[in-house]
Amino acid sequence: MLVGIIASSIMSQNILSNYQSRAVSQQTTTAVSQFRILANHLASADYFNDIEQEGIENELSLFSGFFSGRIMIIDSNFNVVSDSYQMSVGKAMIASEIINCFADGKTVQNYDDVNKYIEIVIPIFNAKDETVDGVIFASSSTQSVYNTVDVLSRKAGILMVAIILFIIIFAMIMSSILVRPFERITKAIKSVDNGLAVPEEKILDYLETEEIMDAFSTLLTKMRSLDESREEFVSNVSHELKTPLASMKVLADSIRSADDVPIETYKEFMDDIGDEVDRENTIITDLLSLVKMDKTSGKPNIKSTDVNSMIAGIIKRLKPIGDKNNVELVFSEERQVTAEIDETKMTLAITNLVENAIKYNKPGGWVRVELDADHQFFACKVSDSGIGIPKDSLDRIYERFYRVDKSHSREIGGTGLGLAITRSAILLHRGAIKATSIEGEGTTFVVRIPLKYVI
Ligand SMILES: Nc1ncnc2c1ncn2[C@@H]1O[C@H](COP(=O)(O)OP(=O)(O)OP(=O)(O)O)[C@@H](O)[C@H]1O
Ligand SMILES: [Mg+2]
Repeated sequence: MLVGIIASSIMSQNILSNYQSRAVSQQTTTAVSQFRILANHLASADYFNDIEQEGIENELSLFSGFFSGRIMIIDSNFNVVSDSYQMSVGKAMIASEIINCFADGKTVQNYDDVNKYIEIVIPIFNAKDETVDGVIFASSSTQSVYNTVDVLSRKAGILMVAIILFIIIFAMIMSSILVRPFERITKAIKSVDNGLAVPEEKILDYLETEEIMDAFSTLLTKMRSLDESREEFVSNVSHELKTPLASMKVLADSIRSADDVPIETYKEFMDDIGDEVDRENTIITDLLSLVKMDKTSGKPNIKSTDVNSMIAGIIKRLKPIGDKNNVELVFSEERQVTAEIDETKMTLAITNLVENAIKYNKPGGWVRVELDADHQFFACKVSDSGIGIPKDSLDRIYERFYRVDKSHSREIGGTGLGLAITRSAILLHRGAIKATSIEGEGTTFVVRIPLKYVI
């Protein structure tokens, strides 16, 4: 804005000074041509032989009035024969311009910048022999030009001030209009308290503010769902950790309150308490491995691993549990697979899947683990002939502590953390997991992991 104001004031100053010099030169040209006409008139009237001629004096005073200046007529003896100011008549007037004009018959014109007048010397030729009989020595004031410039510059100043005021007021109004929706957004964001409720007011003034509000609402919704899942997780953890403690307390209280308890009952209760301690331990171990998975997600211990022998090891370790549940374990390998993986974490992931397949199976059932690969991924498929998972639970089984049938699952044992751990380990390897199931017939989990680890 400041640049604009300075530029326009310089421009108006320029225009005014331009006008001034043009007006002065215009006045000079007009005066010279008019005085030349007067000189010709005087010459043709043979003025110097009869200076008392009627009308000439009037004409001279008319000219001096018109050009707001002074006209003197000087004869060849350098005597002033006529003066519109009547001050120098009869006196001698010797100046270099006049002498030069008599000598060469040329018109002289000067501009006195300080006193602001134009000085003109014009020869009056003899009508017969073209000699210089006399000269017109005239001055014409340019004060009127300066007066006009003054008036104009004052008007330009007023106009400039008016424009500046207008610009300032316009800018203030515009900025307040433009800023208003953003102020409303700030207010809406500030109004969001810990409840993380999406503000109801929509700020629709501009497309941009609408988009900001939409993005903000989406963010709030995500934060709220994160907050909810965090709360749910904490309450689940406390619940799961408290359950074994409560059982232990009941067991301990019942022994303490009874008299003459046989040693066998003591042993049995102590065994039960031991089981509960184991359970508590499992939950804590599972939770710790989940937390570890999240924390070290940046830097897993990746090594080139023989996946076939890794899975063979898992099946060997789980075989006793399979035998106990009367479930047959089969491993079918399509090809030899070597992949860049974190062996410990991947073992944990596959173990959980096979363990589930055994746990949620029927007596006499089977679990089949298949390993295959293409040039980019290896796939591990764990299918079983078990109880299956209902369709609406398929998406939720990876949630921490989620178990399909609470009562049945409790019988079987487990905390509901297994698949959450499995999923975290798979995502750590930039892989994917997918489950399909038919209730009562069985479930199939397919895990796909890139052969080369991508950061
Ligand atoms: N192969 C399967 N067949 C049927 N249901 C399954 C199968 N795998 C998982 N589920 C269901 O998904 C739930 C979640 O499994 P997840 O492994 O996370 O927990 P869990 O097995 O109950 O406990 P743990 O933490 O000891 O593994 C199980 O409780 C079970 O209801
Ligand atoms: Mg499990």
